Amino acid sequence: MSVPLPPVLVVDDERNMRVSLQSVLVSEGYRVEAVESAEDALKQLEREDYFMVITDARLGGMSGYDFIRQAHQRWPQVPLLMITAYATPKLAVEAINAGALDYLAKPFAPEELLHAVARCAERHRLVQENAVLRAKASETFTLEQIIGESPRMMELRQLIQTVAPTNATVLILGESGTGKELVAGALHSLSSRKRNHYVRINCAAIPENLLESELFGHEKGAFTGALRQKAGRVEEADGGTIFLDEIGDMSRPLQAKLLRFLEDGSFTRVGGNEELRVSVRLIAATNRDIIEAIQQNHFREDLYHRLNVVQFRPPPLRERNNDVLLLADHFLRHFTQSMRKQIPGFTASARQKLMSHHWPGNVRELRNVIERAVILENTQQIQTSSLPDFQLETRLRRGESAVVAPGQSLDEIMENYEREVILNALDQNRYNLTRTSEQLRITRHALRYRMQRLNINTDTDPPDETGSGKEAQRS
Ligand SMILES: Nc1ncnc2c1ncn2[C@@H]1O[C@H](COP(=O)(O)OP(=O)(O)OP(=O)(O)O)[C@@H](O)[C@H]1O
Ligand SMILES: [Mg+2]
Repeated sequence: MSVPLPPVLVVDDERNMRVSLQSVLVSEGYRVEAVESAEDALKQLEREDYFMVITDARLGGMSGYDFIRQAHQRWPQVPLLMITAYATPKLAVEAINAGALDYLAKPFAPEELLHAVARCAERHRLVQENAVLRAKASETFTLEQIIGESPRMMELRQLIQTVAPTNATVLILGESGTGKELVAGALHSLSSRKRNHYVRINCAAIPENLLESELFGHEKGAFTGALRQKAGRVEEADGGTIFLDEIGDMSRPLQAKLLRFLEDGSFTRVGGNEELRVSVRLIAATNRDIIEAIQQNHFREDLYHRLNVVQFRPPPLRERNNDVLLLADHFLRHFTQSMRKQIPGFTASARQKLMSHHWPGNVRELRNVIERAVILENTQQIQTSSLPDFQLETRLRRGESAVVAPGQSLDEIMENYEREVILNALDQNRYNLTRTSEQLRITRHALRYRMQRLNINTDTDPPDETGSGKEAQRS
């Protein structure tokens, strides 16, 4: 099944020229729409789909070159053909530089025109076909996939809608599992670049020395193993979007090259001299504390500012209130469907348990918890017994956060936390009290006092300063 070819847009301020171009093209079966100015053409391009644009170089208002520049920037996937009055190499270069795919010098034979148009039509068909294939092969992202009715999630979806159609660079910050990839995908899917490639690169997953050539390509022989020339992923993303995930893990030298690329889309392949240029929108994400990375000189501050044109911060799941239950229901439907099980809901206490957990792994953790529950459950409702022992898991991540059981007073919580901290420090210092007290910056006497108060016994009375660690006992 082939989709009909959209029309050609002809832009010429001379009526005769418009009429004759139109009649040549229509006689070959193309649909044609003609306008007399660049301004009108831009309006038409906003409203309708065209498979290509043919424009005269000299127009009444905005010149053909300026028009091509704008059109190429806003609709990079639409081929532009320029008609110039004289065939001078200088004008041809100017047309191509502005973004024209091809140019024709007046006077030209109808065959020349038809040949150029046929090539664009063919290109359009290939691009369409590819887009269909890609849509099938890869995930598609929509706003509806981002589940959540909490105010911050509504705000997030609203911001995606506002920012997606612009070309703004986006930085997505947030804890692991908060949905940064969904945000990035939706930004591409809702942009005018959606028909072009969405290229995803995980900077942490590619060895540092290969990341540059992955991004910007390499020339043959640029390094051992570079047997032939390879185009960079930024070239693949031309006209589309590139998503650099885990950008906090990128090396400083590569950060400098990325900065240059962000300034004007220019880059050189590894081992090459030629300056290449593409039109790519960049979205970057990281779950690292980027400000801390800047302070520690791991991340360039200027790159941070350049990336941070618009910032997205998907909130941690624990700050989304009832979204926990909405998401739990969503994942329950998803997994019961794929595992063909009949479990329509959760018991009240299971819901309670889900609501009281801290979710350090955010939505990803919730998804895994529900998947596991669907596997384990053999009644008609998810019971608490099919959910993990969150208390135990929190304890296992000792030192990461305080153990807070429901119904504890603040004093009890603080005491537990203090006990965890002291036990960890003792552990690290092999139960040497002097070194432990130094690490905690309290006197040895104060440490012993607190240990007594918290019922921490090390079985080392009288004082053991040999470091022959004995297990401390938690009371
Ligand atoms: N709001 C949401 N609605 C539905 N599914 C979500 C939502 N947020 C996240 N998910 C799902 O949770 C999982 C983790 O999300 P994602 O991969 O986007 O996290 P991330 O922020 O990129 O994490 P990391 O920093 O670890 O890479 C995915 O399976 C994703 O589909
Ligand atoms: Mg991710």
